Amino acid sequence: MNNQADSLRLIVKQMKNSLQAQINGVNKGTRVITISSGKGGVGKSNLSLNLALALTEFKQKVILLDADMGLANIDIILGLTPLYNLAHVISGEKTISEIIIEGPQGLKIIPGGSMHELANLKDWELEGFLTKLSKIEGEADYLLIDTGAGLSNTVLSFALAADELIVVTTSEPTAITDAYGFIKALCQQDYPGQIYIVVNRANSPQEAAVVYNKLKIAVDKFLNYKISFLGFIVEDPKVGQAIQNQKAFIIAYPQSTAANNLYNIAAKISDREDKLPQNKGVKTFFSKVIEYFR
Ligand SMILES: Nc1ncnc2c1ncn2[C@@H]1O[C@H](COP(=O)(O)OP(=O)(O)O)[C@@H](O)[C@H]1O
Ligand SMILES: [Mg+2]
Repeated sequence: MNNQADSLRLIVKQMKNSLQAQINGVNKGTRVITISSGKGGVGKSNLSLNLALALTEFKQKVILLDADMGLANIDIILGLTPLYNLAHVISGEKTISEIIIEGPQGLKIIPGGSMHELANLKDWELEGFLTKLSKIEGEADYLLIDTGAGLSNTVLSFALAADELIVVTTSEPTAITDAYGFIKALCQQDYPGQIYIVVNRANSPQEAAVVYNKLKIAVDKFLNYKISFLGFIVEDPKVGQAIQNQKAFIIAYPQSTAANNLYNIAAKISDREDKLPQNKGVKTFFSKVIEYFR
């Protein structure tokens, strides 16, 4: 498992990569990463928000889409009260730039709201919606999507459509079983992207490794599918304290163990950049979401 020196090494490497990319003028397009889980309450929203912020610290432009239809989360963690959301874009009342809100460190947040209207749009309305959405293509290096938990149509659509997917679990047996069930549902639909696992609220790095291995063995054996370990976040009281103060924990407690774990995850995500096939971008992503949704 990583220690502090490892995380520093990864972070330095990432900064070099991003500088080199700027020098070369390489624009690889927006990386779309969905964050989901089988079981609720395992830490998706906290991971999404803090990962998004860590990537902005790596000088990346990041947009975070809050796509948990039931509970809007990101705004609550940050104490924001958005007036408009994607539903207003779908209905044609607002443009994308009119609903985006500014978070800390230049992070842009898109409040999802209820997107059920997507299912009822006529083809020409959909085309208009997709054109509006593709405006964010050039504006972000990353689009992160925080979803709800479980096997609902909406969550699966966002997961299946993304090039990369982070499945969050804790050490609880029910969370592990539900993570397995979630991955199984993706396999049944031949999900072609990358699946990463994050073990949250771990009591130790060793415990996180045990949880990941359990999942990996089952996925290998019964689903014949590849997953990879993205990292872990320890159980840390600073996470709850930060939420109480409506702040992201990497900003409120940058020296905490949870923040250190989070930077490792962020560094690993950026390090994946070179190893990935060309990403398909924002417009393709949303067309696929709609395709699965309908
Ligand atoms: N690493 C952690 N250490 C301690 N508490 C955590 C940690 N991660 C999450 N929590 C707690 O779990 C709660 C649920 O997290 P949240 O990100 O809202 O989950 P989800 O989005 O999956 O429903 C948080 O309010 C926080 O109190
Ligand atoms: Mg959430």
